[in-house]
Amino acid sequence: MQDIRKAFAGVPALDRASLTVGPGEVHALIGQNGAGKSTLIKVLTGAYRRDAGQVTFAGAAVDFPSPLAAQRGGIATIYQEVNLVPLRSVAENIMLGREPRRFGLIDWRALNDRARQALSDLGLTLEVTRPLGGYSTAVQQMVALARAVSVQARLVVMDEPTSSLNEREVETLFGVIRGLKARGVSVLFVSHRLDELYEVCDRITVMRDGRTVFSGPMTDVSRLRLVELMLGRALDSSGAQTGFVRGQASDEELLSARGVTLGTRLRGAGVEVRRGEVVGLAGLLGSGRSELAGVLFGAERPDQAQITLRGQAVDFRAPGDAIRAGLGFCSEDRKAQGIIPDLSVRENLTLALLPRLARAGVVDTARQAEIVDRFMTRLGIKASSAEQPIRELSGGNQQKVLLSRWLATEPDLLILDEPTRGIDVGAKAEIQRLIGELAQGGLGVLMISSELEELIEGCHEVTVLRHGRRVARLSGEAMTEDALLHAMAQGEADPGAAGAA
Ligand SMILES: Nc1ncnc2c1ncn2[C@@H]1O[C@H](COP(=O)(O)OP(=O)(O)OP(=O)(O)O)[C@@H](O)[C@H]1O
Ligand SMILES: [Mg+2]
Repeated sequence: MQDIRKAFAGVPALDRASLTVGPGEVHALIGQNGAGKSTLIKVLTGAYRRDAGQVTFAGAAVDFPSPLAAQRGGIATIYQEVNLVPLRSVAENIMLGREPRRFGLIDWRALNDRARQALSDLGLTLEVTRPLGGYSTAVQQMVALARAVSVQARLVVMDEPTSSLNEREVETLFGVIRGLKARGVSVLFVSHRLDELYEVCDRITVMRDGRTVFSGPMTDVSRLRLVELMLGRALDSSGAQTGFVRGQASDEELLSARGVTLGTRLRGAGVEVRRGEVVGLAGLLGSGRSELAGVLFGAERPDQAQITLRGQAVDFRAPGDAIRAGLGFCSEDRKAQGIIPDLSVRENLTLALLPRLARAGVVDTARQAEIVDRFMTRLGIKASSAEQPIRELSGGNQQKVLLSRWLATEPDLLILDEPTRGIDVGAKAEIQRLIGELAQGGLGVLMISSELEELIEGCHEVTVLRHGRRVARLSGEAMTEDALLHAMAQGEADPGAAGAA
C-alpha cells in the first residue's frame, strides 16, 4: 500500500500511509488509538474506498469494491469490531457467504461439519448449531478466527484479535499464525499488547496521526523505542509505563458475595471487595467470571447467593436496582451492551449520569459540558468534537468513552470487565492511574481481566475462579504470574476456601 489517503468529512484519517507485507511474513501494525490502523485495513479490504494512493496485491494493482471481493481475491479479515451475526448459528457465521449447497439448497449437514472441522483445527469444540450471540466475546473472536483461517487466503488480516483472549487462547492463536506462515500465508496483525508482537512478528510498521512513521524488522526495535515512535516523543528512562498507585485499602467491607450458584456455570462462587480496594477476578474461559459479575450487577438472577453491600443484604432484580445502590458496570462487549452508535460522544458519556444531571426534566448542560470536557482531556479521547457520533471514533476511543461513562457516575463499587481492552499503552497507564486515584478516594473496584500483568500491577488482591468456584485468593508477594496461571488451570476448591466462598 503506497501513499494512501482517506478523509472523513474533510478530516484526514490517513495521510500518505504506506505498508508493505512480504509473502509468508507476519507483520505487526501498531499505533495509538485513532492513528489510522483500522482505516488502513478497511481501505485494503474495500470496506472503505481510498481517496488517493496505490494498492498492489500479489503483484497486481487492486481496488476491491467490497470486503467480499477482497475475500474472493485472497484476503481474509478479522475486523476489530466483530462483524458476525449474533442471531445466526456458530456454523452459519463461519461459513457465511460460502455455504455448501446441494441441488441449490444449503446443505446444512455439510455446513455444520465443515464449521466443526474449522473449530477443531483450533482445538475448540462448540455447539455449532447454537446462536453465536450466546457465547462470550472471546469465543466470538475465536469463531472469527476459524472463519478467517478456513477461507483459502494468501493474506490474513487480524485487527486486535487478542484483545479479549487469555494467555492460553493467545497461544492457540499464535500456533495458528505460525501454521499460516509455514504454508506461505502472510499475516497482518494489529495489537496494543506490544510484548506479544515479539513472539510471532517478523516485521513491524508504526503509524502516527494517519502516517507511517517506521517500518522495519521486529528484532531491530526495543519496546521502549516502539512506544516512543507511537507517541512521537522521547520517554524518560522510567518509561512512564504503569500508572497505578496502590493506595491502602480500608478494612471496611463494601461487598461480600458467597455461595453464588447459577445453573452449572457458578457453583458456590464468592468474592469480597473492601472500600478503596481493587480486586481482580481471574479465570479461564468458562470459569464463571462474567457470570459472577452479571449476578452482582443484577443482570442475572442466581439460584442461590448471599450478597451484602455495606453490610446490608441485597437482592438486585435488575441492573437499575444495582445502579441506584451505587454500582457501576462497564461491560466487555461495547458493541452489544455499551455504546449507542448514533448518539454523540457527549450523550454516550453522560448517559448513566443523566438522571442526576436533570432537574425537573431539564439537563444542566453547563455541568454536562464540564464533565465531558474533563474526561475527554484526561483520557485523551480523540474525536473531532464532543458532538461527533461515537460510531465514527476508533475502537480504543469508544472504549475510553464507555469507561468515562461509569467513572463519571462516581459509584461506590465499579465492576470493570476487560477495562483496557483495545486501549493503547499511553492511555492505559492513564486509566490505571485514574482507577488508582478513585480507589484512594474510597471506591471499590472489581476488575475482570485476561491480562495477568494488568491484574498483578493494578490489584490489591486477585480472586481466581475455576469451573464456577473460587479456587484461590492471592495478594502481595503471592500474586505472581505463575501462581495465577497455576490456579486458573489446576486450582481446586479446597474445603477451607469453599467454606469462605
Ligand atoms: N466512519 C468514520 N467517520 C468519521 N471518522 C472516522 C471514521 N472511521 C474512522 N474515523 C476516524 O479516523 C481516525 C482513525 O481511526 P481508526 O479507527 O483507523 O484508528 P485505529 O488506529 O484503528 O485506533 P484504535 O487503536 O483505537 O482501534 C480516527 O480519528 C477516527 O475518528
Ligand atoms: Mg482500530
